[in-house]
Order: sequence, then structure tokens, then C-alpha cells
Amino acid sequence: MIKGDTRVHSLYGSPVAHSLSPVIFNTTFQKLSLNRAYLPFEVSRDNLKQAVEAARTLGFDGFNVTMPHKTGIIEMLDRLDKTAEKIGSVNTVATTKSGLAGYNTDGEGAIRALRSYGLEPNNKRILVLGAGGAAQALVHRLSADNNTVSILNRTLDKARQIADKATGPGKTSYGELTKNSLEIGIEDADLLVNATPIQTSTLMSQLRIPVNRVKDTGWVFDLAYDMPAEPIGRRTISPLEMLVHQAALSYEIWLNETGPFALMRSSLVDYLGKDWK
Ligand SMILES: NC(=O)c1ccc[n+]([C@@H]2O[C@H](COP(=O)([O-])OP(=O)(O)OC[C@H]3O[C@@H](n4cnc5c(N)ncnc54)[C@H](OP(=O)(O)O)[C@@H]3O)[C@@H](O)[C@H]2O)c1
Repeated sequence: MIKGDTRVHSLYGSPVAHSLSPVIFNTTFQKLSLNRAYLPFEVSRDNLKQAVEAARTLGFDGFNVTMPHKTGIIEMLDRLDKTAEKIGSVNTVATTKSGLAGYNTDGEGAIRALRSYGLEPNNKRILVLGAGGAAQALVHRLSADNNTVSILNRTLDKARQIADKATGPGKTSYGELTKNSLEIGIEDADLLVNATPIQTSTLMSQLRIPVNRVKDTGWVFDLAYDMPAEPIGRRTISPLEMLVHQAALSYEIWLNETGPFALMRSSLVDYLGKDWK
């Protein structure tokens, strides 16, 4: 129950109506009898600054940001942790004595999801579609683990910026997302990570590529979870697994204790009425 002294967390993004994060956090807080609540707010790019100031004024106990704010929020914060600074993308903000601190749990959340399916992302050939906040976090982490990463994006310059920032030992290349580049990229990839809001099957049909071209790709990982994904590829990683992992890491930052991953995961499974693995 929300009371006078309930601690408040929030999510800022646009759109947010589809987000499952409020389900994960509020159910977990209730199950642990924590006097905390997690509220989603639809915040446009133009209103982000005011929303961040509101979080300060109202004393929120930390918040998440999602599309399209993961890079834009950086200049509004007081400090960044090392990973968020290197990546240039934030999804978790903590309220500290020295102000608002930005973190990024997407990269580690994605790696934990891959490992939970038995895929060790090391020395693999990985094709990343998209070059937004989530792609930035993933490429940074994957290149640190010696993977060969190829980034394809609609806006070439953003793909180049991410490739330039990846300082790990893994080789990183980039290109424009076209029919030709996607067809070639798919052929070589052990793992296809789609970090755009569009499902891979939809992107492929928009580019007039038959969906069966992806059938020999080892693994396919669509990050977007707002549309039911048609399973394509031989093995599919669920974005929901990553969602829970990155949420458990945010919990850890806010409450300064290990996130209750199993409880958070079962909260979402119960809400959806089925497991995704
Ligand atoms: N499962 C999880 O835990 C998890 C975690 C993080 C994010 N996500 C999901 O991942 C997706 C991306 O998030 P983000 O924060 O990285 O978003 P973002 O910063 O807004 O970046 C979106 C990227 O997708 C590209 N894109 C958008 N619409 C496209 C289209 N119609 N065709 C081709 N490319 C398109 C954009 O290309 P341009 O650069 O050309 O604009 C950009 O590179 C979202 O659906 C988000 O919900 C899921």
C-alpha cells in the first residue's frame, strides 16, 4: 500500500505504457514488504530536463530511463559511474548525497541473459542492429569480451560513433543498415542482436529479405519486448530475461544489496501467466 512515507522510484521514457518494469518492481517490493513504489511516466525529449528536476525536488529514491533518453540524460546528471561514462549511455539513476548519479545495467543485463541460455559471449561473431542507448551498452561490453562486433544502423554516423568508442580487444566494424549489408552480416554471425524497437522479422520483411535467411544464424536476440516476436533463427534469446537481469542490477544500485533476481523473475512470469524459456 502507498503510504505517507513510501519511497518512490520511477521510469521516464516515451513510450512507457508497454513497460513491464513497474510489474517487476512493484510485485517484488510487495512480496518483500518494502515500503517502496515504482511509477512509470511518459516523458518526451523536450520534458526530460523538467522531469529530472522533479525527481530531485520530489526526492525520488532513484529512477530508470528508457528510450529515447539514455544518452540525452547524461548532461542533466551530477556524475556518472565509470561504465556509464565509457559507454555514453545511462538507464539507471541513483539519488546520492552528492546528487544524481548515472549507471548503465543494460550491457551486464544482456550478458547475464545470454549466459543463462548457455551462450558464452566470447570470441563470437556478433551482428548488432541499431545504434541507440541499448546498442551502445552492448557493443561496449561485447567488445571488452573479445568478440568481433559488426554494427548496422539506419543512421551511419551513429554506428560509427559506437564503433569508435569500443575500446575492448574485440574487432569492431560498422555500416549502414541496408538489404545488402544485413544479408551479408547474417551469413557470418554466431549471434544477431537486434537493438532497434522493430522486430527482426519485421525489419527483414521491410528490407525484402526472406525471413528464412536467418535460419542458420546460431542465436537471435531481439531486445524489444512490446510485440510478440515470431521465433526466427535456430535459437532465440528472450528480451524478458535481459529485462529482469537489468532490473535486478538497478535494484542493487538503489538498495545497495543484491537484487532478488529469482523473485523478480517469478513476479513477471506470474503476471504473464507463462515462462519464456
Ligand atoms: N529487453 C530489455 O531489457 C531492453 C533493454 C534496453 C532496451 N530494450 C529495447 O531495445 C530497443 C532500443 O532501445 P534504445 O534505448 O537503444 O533506443 P534508442 O536509443 O532510441 O535507439 C533506437 C535505435 O533503433 C533504430 N531504429 C529505430 N526505428 C527504426 C526503424 N524503423 N528501422 C531501423 N532502425 C530503427 C534507431 O536508428 P537511428 O539511429 O537511425 O535513429 C536507433 O539506432 C527498444 O525497443 C527498447 O525497449 C530492451
